[in-house]
This record gives sequence, structure tokens and C-alpha cells, in this order.
Amino acid sequence: MDYSRLDPLISISGEKIQNVYDWETYRREEIMVLLSNFIYGVRPMEKPHDLSFSVDRITEDYMSYPLVKKDITISFLGFSMPFTLFLPKECYKKTPVPVFLHVLNESHMQKVDPVNNPENYFLPIAEIAKRGYGCAVMSTLDVSPDWIHKPEFKKGVFAAVQPDASDRDNRSWGNVSGWAYGASRIMDYLETDIDVEHTKVAISGHSRAGKAALWASATDKRFALCISNDSGCSGAAFTRGDSEGVERIWNINISDWFCGNYHKFNEREEMLPCDQHMLLAAIAPRPLYVKSNEEDAWAGPDEELRSCKLASPVYELYGLPGFIMDDEKVEINKPYHEGTIAYHRAPGDHNLEEHDWKLFMDFADRYLK
Ligand code: GCU
Repeated sequence: MDYSRLDPLISISGEKIQNVYDWETYRREEIMVLLSNFIYGVRPMEKPHDLSFSVDRITEDYMSYPLVKKDITISFLGFSMPFTLFLPKECYKKTPVPVFLHVLNESHMQKVDPVNNPENYFLPIAEIAKRGYGCAVMSTLDVSPDWIHKPEFKKGVFAAVQPDASDRDNRSWGNVSGWAYGASRIMDYLETDIDVEHTKVAISGHSRAGKAALWASATDKRFALCISNDSGCSGAAFTRGDSEGVERIWNINISDWFCGNYHKFNEREEMLPCDQHMLLAAIAPRPLYVKSNEEDAWAGPDEELRSCKLASPVYELYGLPGFIMDDEKVEINKPYHEGTIAYHRAPGDHNLEEHDWKLFMDFADRYLK
């Protein structure tokens, strides 16, 4: 199959993109239109006019850790979403810190409960703070509940931002975009907090939350670094991949995560006018980290790696190293950190673990410190 029409550096009109100006003015814009209209859906991009924040409680030495915990509520259009911000105690009120905004899907919020256990393996908040980073935790449930919307989007952030469901059509935003919208509102708050170095906020997420982290980064350039952990199908994985057991569009569209138009591609993936490497390319020139798990066939580790390679030329257009990997085959647990797109593949199945965080922070130190 000829994939040349999916070349991120060839415009729809067939022009070769040769400089950053043409990329940002024409091609990136085209790609954002394709990704919005056919996959994630179109959503309001402006800040809500009545956006307000309240810091409800500040707890020092939270659970006897050297952590400061802030409980914050963001309100707009009659809707409120809480989130939690953790800061390393030693920097509190002294030095603004870079922050990881971690998107957590409902089941991980329940199973791992990182807010009440800052030493867990999945989001090791205490370890992250030891390395000098703050950590904001956004639960998708607080923005828009998962799996309940079809056929109507009447709950959570959707009800507030687009109360008249008859305004929706096949291009309207799905849940992944709803979560990305919530992440942008948290970013709005972080810009106002004197304990946060707001030009150094990374966004991260695992699995469906990784899809949301990627889309949030593409749609909001304030995120300085993006980490996708096993985001898989409609996240970092190249959709036209053919590895055995990899999730397909018709599998994923039983969810309420994407726009109506995406469902048209359930049995017709070849018709999609874009692919997921373009999502990664839309994040350039900001640093990006993609992590896969060796046995996570459903998320498609090879498809994720492929997207990193295919997005690389866009970073190079900026004069940056894109994705650099000299090995013919990926070595497990080896950090491929030389380029602006970093990658590692952990052993085992679909998961996020403390060792992954260590490598994420090694890479982040280069950009956020
Ligand atoms: C399902 C879904 C994936 C998703 C994952 C998750 O397996 O098919 O696309 O990434 O759930 O979020 O845990």
C-alpha cells in the first residue's frame, strides 16, 4: 500500500512542506482539522467566560510525607471539577516547580487511588516529588464519566459546555476530547498558582487516559511535554498496523470516546484520511515520550514505535533530532532518549510502573529542569 498521502510533510494539495512556517500555517492546520473532524471531534476551544478557581484546602506534610496537597475546584458554566495538586514540601512557597498533570481513568482512580496512597507503583507521587516535580491528578470521572454517553452527551463537561444536545452532529467531540478539555482547564489554574512553573507542565496518561494526554497536547500548546503510556489504538499506535491481536477501530468504537464520523471507519480503516503519527507530529516541536509494553499486543507496541518513526521528520524540520534508535530491534527497558521523541518498551503486559516513571523523569529533567 502507498502511504505517501499520509506523509506529514506533504500537504493535501500535494506540496512538499519544507519549512516551519509552511508546516505551522498549512499542514499542521490541515492535520488538526482531519484529527478533529474524523477522530476526536470538534470542541469549543475558548476558555469559558466565567472560569473561576477555589483552593479549598491546603495540607502540609500530607500523610507524613514531605508533600503539600492542595484540593482545588475549577468552576465554569454551572459545572465544577475538583482536582488535587501535590507539591514537594521543600519548594512550597519558595520555588515554583515543574509539574506532571496525570490523567487517571475511572478504574485506576478506584484501583490505585494514588491520592490516598502517594507511594503506589502506578503514580508514585512521593517519588515524583523527591525528584523535584509536583503532580496534579485529574480523574476522568470528575470531568466526564466514561462509557455512559452514547447516544447522547448530556453529562459532565458536555452538559455545561454544550447544553443543547441538538447542537451535536457527527463531528462533535467525544469523551477523549472532553477529558482533554478538562486538562486544559487545569492548565488554566496552574498558570495562576505561584508554586507552579507553568511553562513546564507535562501531561501524562495511561491507556485511554494516554489518548487524552496526546489529544490535550495537540490541542493545547501550553503543555510542555507529553507522555503516552500504552495509549494504543487511536492514541500513539499507527492504525494501519497489522500486528496480530492489535485493537482495531471497530473494537474501540463500542466506547463513547470519539466522534460520530470515526464510526464510519469501523470496517473501512483504509478510508481514514489521517493516521496516528500525525497526532504525534502535531505535538512537535515539544518533547514527547511514548512507552509501550512488550506483551501488550492489544495496544500495538510495534504500531506505537512506528508512529514515533513516522512523526520524526516534523521534529527534524524544526532542526531538532526526532526519534533516534540505532538498534534494529527494540531492546526491552532500554531508554531511547537521544531524540526529542523518546521511547522505551517495558517487559510485561499493559501497565504503568515505578521504573517507567524513573525513565520519564530522566527524560523530563532535560526539558523541565
Ligand atoms: C480498552 C480499550 C483500549 C484502552 C484500554 C484502557 O482495552 O480497548 O483502547 O486503551 O481499554 O484504557 O484501559
